[in-house]
Amino acid sequence: MSRSRVGLIGFGTVGAAVYEQIQTNLWERFEVARVAVRDRGKARPAEIEDLLCDAQYLVQADDVDIVVEVIGGIHPAIDLIKLALTQGKRVVTANKELIARHYDELIAFGGDLRFEAAVAGGIPVIQVLRTLAQTNRITSIHGILNGTTNFILTEMETRQSELEPILKEAQAMGYAEADPTADVDGFDAMYKIAILGAIASGEQLDLETIPRSGIREISLTKMREAAEHERRIKLVASWTRESGARVTCQALPLDHPLSQVDGVMNAVTIEGDFMPTLTLIGPGAGGRPTSSAICGDLVAE
Ligand code: NAP
Ligand code: HSE
Repeated sequence: MSRSRVGLIGFGTVGAAVYEQIQTNLWERFEVARVAVRDRGKARPAEIEDLLCDAQYLVQADDVDIVVEVIGGIHPAIDLIKLALTQGKRVVTANKELIARHYDELIAFGGDLRFEAAVAGGIPVIQVLRTLAQTNRITSIHGILNGTTNFILTEMETRQSELEPILKEAQAMGYAEADPTADVDGFDAMYKIAILGAIASGEQLDLETIPRSGIREISLTKMREAAEHERRIKLVASWTRESGARVTCQALPLDHPLSQVDGVMNAVTIEGDFMPTLTLIGPGAGGRPTSSAICGDLVAE
């Protein structure tokens, strides 16, 4: 059987992990045929140098069957994705901002677009939610959906450190967005809950109306006060059918299902009319877990 040929747009934290996972575990079914990056002058592994080409060229190339977009941002990602879909190619993306902002447009555009990796890293929450949304009236979704901020809050508490030095560690580990304010100020979690809310409700959420706060206001003093009341501070993204979406820091009681989720782990609880609380927990950021979700979209029927 011939192998499907993957065009990889982006070779950063996630793109490099996808390349490695295809080479390690999926080589019988897939090969990376082409790679596009922003800066052709950066040092890359020798075998990547041979595959480099322009992103516009990649999506239209006859020797690329599936396009994986892992560059982030809206432009040029949206134009590349649409061009690839127009060519009849499957597109796999981890780009939560793009999906959240253009959900209705991209669904209406048609074609084979997959985005499991856009929400909660390695947790297959989109697959689970899509199934539940067909069998249940989903009533609420609550989650810790940003690995960077959960890592920072956990480390602040454990090491009694302030935010900034730990943010640098999260960046070094490949958890944070290119602009980490997207993590720290709650935008990343907002995009993710907006995607889950759109799947649950069947329509795009208006991002401008989603109340959002990040973790900048969280100090060690606030954490100690919460601990005195047997609570832990977490950045929680929620969607309910009645009230819509919001992203807020909450002091959760210790027996709350989200309060013990630490480090880069994410967790999502989903409730439906026939489905009492279902909680999914797993790694929420980082190259390998995200690659695992992307490769899941490669092999999916
Ligand atoms: P990254 O490390 O900053 O890598 C971005 C890659 O995209 C780089 O290789 C860069 O090229 C390339 N690139 C940027 N603009 C480009 C353009 N116009 N044309 C071609 N290539 C371009 O980012 P990342 O962490 O891998 O994240 C990529 C995407 O995955 C983002 O949408 C992010 O939100 C999402 N995501 C990330 C994680 C995570 O844990 N990191 C988890 C889930 C989802 P150069 O190498 O030349 O700079
Ligand atoms: N920056 C994101 C996070 C990456 O920390 O959760 C995963 O989407």
